[in-house]
Amino acid sequence: MRVAIASDHAGFIQKQPMIDYLTNELGCEVIDLGPATDDRVDYPDFGEKVGRCVAAGDADRGVCICGTGIGIAVAAGKVAGIRASSITTPEFAALFRQHNDGNVIGLSGRFVDLEVNQEIAKVFLTTDFEGGRHADRVAKINALD
Ligand code: RB5
Repeated sequence: MRVAIASDHAGFIQKQPMIDYLTNELGCEVIDLGPATDDRVDYPDFGEKVGRCVAAGDADRGVCICGTGIGIAVAAGKVAGIRASSITTPEFAALFRQHNDGNVIGLSGRFVDLEVNQEIAKVFLTTDFEGGRHADRVAKINALD
């Protein structure tokens, strides 16, 4: 699976360990969309990069990391074709895939430990959309683009 990843300065500390985990433990092809340092940046710029990469079909899913995981997910979700949410538990990651066909998650680099975020990412990347009654609802979300 191809995974686009980006952070802001608040999520930067978890970005490389997450890339290593996705690559070495899950066998993903990871596209690092930055930043390259922990200098202060604006999270919407990096949420947008991930959203556009996934929407263009250059990645299958996106993982974003900021302080809370909220702002960067909100930004990614503004891109047409993206269903993004901040996710703080593996259970929500599973439901986000099963019910919402989510394609981008926002992780918290400040309030959630790396190990928990790695588990969230694993569930996010390995759980299928259930379809069925959820398909019409997701179609209604997509129609809002
Ligand atoms: C940066 O200080 C912080 O606002 C950002 O990382 C994020 O938490 C926004 O939602």
